[in-house]
Amino acid sequence: MELKGKVAVITGASSGIGEGTARELADAGMKLVLTSRRKQLLDKIAAQLDTETTTIAGDITDESLPQKLIDTAVDKFGSCDVVFNNAGVMIVGSAEDIDLEAVCRMVRINVEAVYRLAIVAMRHMVSKGGGYLINTSSILGTKVRQTTGAYAGTKYAVEALTEDLRMQAAGTGVRVCALEPGLVETHLQDHFPVHPKDMLNIKALVQPADIGRAIRFMLEQPDHVAIPRILVMPTDQGM
Ligand SMILES: NC(=O)c1ccc[n+]([C@@H]2O[C@H](COP(=O)([O-])OP(=O)(O)OC[C@H]3O[C@@H](n4cnc5c(N)ncnc54)[C@H](OP(=O)(O)O)[C@@H]3O)[C@@H](O)[C@H]2O)c1
Repeated sequence: MELKGKVAVITGASSGIGEGTARELADAGMKLVLTSRRKQLLDKIAAQLDTETTTIAGDITDESLPQKLIDTAVDKFGSCDVVFNNAGVMIVGSAEDIDLEAVCRMVRINVEAVYRLAIVAMRHMVSKGGGYLINTSSILGTKVRQTTGAYAGTKYAVEALTEDLRMQAAGTGVRVCALEPGLVETHLQDHFPVHPKDMLNIKALVQPADIGRAIRFMLEQPDHVAIPRILVMPTDQGM
């Protein structure tokens, strides 16, 4: 796809992988609709991008937000070509210690909200005969580590939905991808008592910009080439 002038919606755009991807897609000349809860951060990032950008502050669990994001892309920029369904949180812990209410909130963000936007985006893209939907899973959407089961479960759910939508999309012109990052240097694990990079003894983490480049590579493939999964991980990550 020629990215210049195309339009992408990015959730979780105020930080980490969403921000890094926004910067890369802006460099490629895409117009952007950025969303997360922190309006000031979004506006600061948007002001630094050399492309047309609009920001919408909101909680991704707000049921009206998915349609609003697609409608904004179409009303403001005339199209919605890419949806990067990326916002997420990570709650882990032992059965003895894990915060159950936080786990349930995580399920709403990582599963319910991802499903809602994915389905709304699919309907829109199939009706116009093209587009790229990228759902952020994780390496933990493919395997489980001790104490990460609740989070991994949310990402397994994303994998299942993504694979189903990929099959449903065949023949429609729509492409669907699960992004499966390994450990990326973001704020996702800021609340952990010990950062996973220290537990796993990883010297150099993947950077958000690295993920942005991988996504750009995928989007730039010709129409007949789909990349349904992207696993990007630190060279040192053994699991
Ligand atoms: N970092 C990793 O190692 C890694 C590995 C595998 C997968 N992932 C996945 O990558 C995705 C992005 O995470 P990240 O690593 O970039 O973490 P991050 O730096 O913490 O970014 C998370 C983003 O999600 C947004 N967000 C969180 N809760 C939200 C809510 N209720 N409503 C709207 N937006 C919300 C945050 O924005 P606001 O706070 O402004 O709302 C922020 O922009 C997640 O799905 C995560 O599971 C990350």
